[in-house]
Amino acid sequence: MKTIAVFGVGYVGLTTGACLAEMGYRVVGCDVNETKINLLRQAQIPFSEPGLAPLVERNLSAGRLSFTADGREVLHDAEMVFICVGTPTGPSGAADLSQVEAAVRLVASAATRPLIVILKSTIPPGGTAEHFAEILARELPPQLTAPIVVNPEFLREGSAVHDFFFPDRVVVGAWDRAAGEQVAALYAPLRCPVLLTDPASAQLTKYASNAFLAAKISFINEVGRIAEQVGANVYAVAQGMGLDERIGGDFLEAGLGYGGSCFPKDVKALAAIAEEHGSSSALLGAVMDINAGQRRLAVEKLRDALGGLEGKNLCVLGLAFKADTDDVREAPALDVISMLCDQGASVRTYDPVAAARAQEVLPPHSRLLYCQDAYEAATGSDAAFIATDWKEFRDLDWNRLGSLMKGNTILDGRGLISPQQMRENGFRCLALAS
Ligand code: UDX
Repeated sequence: MKTIAVFGVGYVGLTTGACLAEMGYRVVGCDVNETKINLLRQAQIPFSEPGLAPLVERNLSAGRLSFTADGREVLHDAEMVFICVGTPTGPSGAADLSQVEAAVRLVASAATRPLIVILKSTIPPGGTAEHFAEILARELPPQLTAPIVVNPEFLREGSAVHDFFFPDRVVVGAWDRAAGEQVAALYAPLRCPVLLTDPASAQLTKYASNAFLAAKISFINEVGRIAEQVGANVYAVAQGMGLDERIGGDFLEAGLGYGGSCFPKDVKALAAIAEEHGSSSALLGAVMDINAGQRRLAVEKLRDALGGLEGKNLCVLGLAFKADTDDVREAPALDVISMLCDQGASVRTYDPVAAARAQEVLPPHSRLLYCQDAYEAATGSDAAFIATDWKEFRDLDWNRLGSLMKGNTILDGRGLISPQQMRENGFRCLALAS
C-alpha cells in the first residue's frame, strides 16, 4: 500500500490526509507543531470543519492514518509527499513561501528513497516551482529522484470534506509526465475531470479561479450599489444574471463581501505577481477596493441610521468569515467591530463557534463584549448587524430579539432575512444592497 506523507496538517493538509486515508492509502500527517500532533493523535481536531473529526477518528483506528512531528522519520517510507503548509501574505502582498521552502529542504536532506513531491500549498507561478525543483536537484543524494508535481486545492472551509470527495476537477501540473500521471491516478476513484498540465499553468489556475470568484462577489456588490441608486433589487438582478449558464448563480450574493484565508491572500498575491512581471492588475485592484469598501459601507449605514455612533449600542451577529467555520481570518465582522468601537459605539457580539478565535485576533476593548447567544447580544442595542450567514440567525425568534433591543434597526449584511417579514415584525430593515 502506498505510503503518503502530508506536511502541514491545517484544514487543507488534514482534510487531504484524512480523505486519502479514507480512500485506502496509508497516510502520515506531519507538522512542526507538536501540540497539534498530540491533539490529532487523540482524534482532536484543533479547528471546526464539519465531518472531519469522524474521518480522522475512523482512519486513526483503522491504522491508515497516523501523525508525527518528525518529518524525517516518515520520509523513509513515503512514496509521495504532499506539501500543504501555509503561504500567508508577506509584507509586499506576495505570498510568503518560507514554510514551503523549509518543507522542501527537509525532503532534500532526509529522503532515502525516490519519491514525488506534491505542492498543494498555493504558490505563485513564475519561477517558484522551478526554485524548489532546483533545491531538490542540488541537495538530494545523486541516486535519488524527487520530481515536483503541482496539485492545487479547491476546498472551501465548512465543506472541505465534501469538496475533496466531489471535486469539479483535479488539476495536476508536472514537468515529469509519469510523475503527473501517478498523482492523477491517486484521484481516479473520484471519477472527476483531471487536467494534466505544466506547473505554472496549474498554479495560475488556482490563483485565477479564486480571483475570479472574488471578482464575481465584488462585481455583484458594485451592481448592488447601482441597484440602490436606481431602485432595483440586486437579489432579483443576481437571480436574473445567474440563469444565464455562462454566468452561473453562485458567488453572486451581494453583501459584506469576502474574507477568509484564501480570497484576500490569493487576490493580493495575483496582483503582486502581475506587478512583479510588469503586467496590469487594475481589475484585481478594483476587486480589492470594492471588497474593502463594503465594510466601510456597513459602518456608514449604521451611523446614518442612528444619527451617529457615539454612545450607541450595537449588536453584531457573526464573527466567522462565513458560516460553518470558526475561522476569522480577514473576517469582515472584525473590521466592522473595530470601526464601530473607534467611532464611539459599544458593541455586543455573538458567534456560534468563532468567538474564541476572534478574541485572539481582536484587541480587547472596554466597549466590546462577547455574548453567549444572539439574544444576550441584542439586549439594549440600538441596532443589530448580521455579519455572517449562519443559518442560526435566520431561525432566530426575531420577535423576542426585537423585544430585547432598545431600537428597531437591523442591517442585514448577508441577505439572510426577508426585509418584508422583518418590517411586518416592526423592524426597520436595512441592507448593504437593495
Ligand atoms: C475559497 C474557494 O471557494 C475555494 O475553492 C478555495 O480553495 C479556497 O477559497 P473559502 O474561502 O473557504 O473557499 O470560502 P468561500 O465559500 O469561497 O467564501 C469566501 C468568502 O466569500 C466568504 O467570506 C463568503 O462569505 C464570501 N461570499 C461567498 C460572498 O460574499 N458572496 C458570495 O456569493 C459567496
